[in-house]
Amino acid sequence: KRVAIVGCPFSGGQPKPGVDKGPIHLVEAGLPDQLRELGWEVTFDGHHQFEEISTLDDPPIGILKNPRQVSKVCEAVAKTVEGHAKDGQLPLTLGGDHSLAMGTISGTLSQYPNACVVWIDAHADINTASTTESGNIHGMPVSFLLGLDATIPEFAWVKPKLTTDRIVYIGLRDVDAGEKRILRENGIKAFSMHEVDKYGIGKVVEMALDHVNPKRDLPIHLSFDVDALDPTVAPSTGTPVRGGLTFREGHYICEAIYETGCLVALDLMEVNPSLADAEAVKQTVAVGCSLVRSALGETLL
Ligand code: ARG
Ligand code: MN
Ligand code: MN
Ligand code: MN
Repeated sequence: KRVAIVGCPFSGGQPKPGVDKGPIHLVEAGLPDQLRELGWEVTFDGHHQFEEISTLDDPPIGILKNPRQVSKVCEAVAKTVEGHAKDGQLPLTLGGDHSLAMGTISGTLSQYPNACVVWIDAHADINTASTTESGNIHGMPVSFLLGLDATIPEFAWVKPKLTTDRIVYIGLRDVDAGEKRILRENGIKAFSMHEVDKYGIGKVVEMALDHVNPKRDLPIHLSFDVDALDPTVAPSTGTPVRGGLTFREGHYICEAIYETGCLVALDLMEVNPSLADAEAVKQTVAVGCSLVRSALGETLL
């Protein structure tokens, strides 16, 4: 039981400053000690120091913003995550914006080529260079991991190691038109809030795992965007969308994934401590910590 915390103070995949402070707040709230309390041996060697690329040297590619910076950072994160995984540690990546998942999931798949991804989010983050309307790369990591579009030379290191049957979504409710088409055309399984309402979270998690990990024998990478939770539960995030997961639904997902015994890597992304008043920030950071604890074995009884 060893976990390595990878703090990623990075915000270049989207325009709002502050999300780079997410990992600092999560660690300062005591997350490392909370995990030790659960019996984990925790390594945390400080937050990742990313090489800065001046925006002058990083003009948009098409409408993609900060493409070289995002690519470089994610490549570094991929190596770090892969290194910890090879070492037998469970990499826990704290974001930072969700473009980082391009790195974390690449790193996981290097060590565990048959891993599946459970993506918890209000958004599908599957835009391609041709479908994105915002040019924000945090709305695109899944398309890069799947290799859905022609390779952009600056992102050549991202090998399309993920397949469309090895990812499942829970919590979606703000999916762009182009993304809906991509999900449909590729037969990618997604449980939106509609399905959560209809079946309940217990059944949804079971159906999601039946799809992506039917025998419960494949390694699981859980990528949790805190905006999957309802904004009343996690207000401090850059792209909040109403009608989200309750506190318990979010935690249930983490608990159920832990119970499979298959979890090999975990991301907690998009906590932005600059986007709300102090009380709301405190609440969001606390929820972030408790989601991680649930995914790493905290039980209610
Ligand atoms: N679909 C929108 C876009 O592509 C929003 C993405 C939000 N992503 C996130 N990781 N919060 O810009
Ligand atoms: Mn999101
Ligand atoms: Mn939208
Ligand atoms: Mn996301």
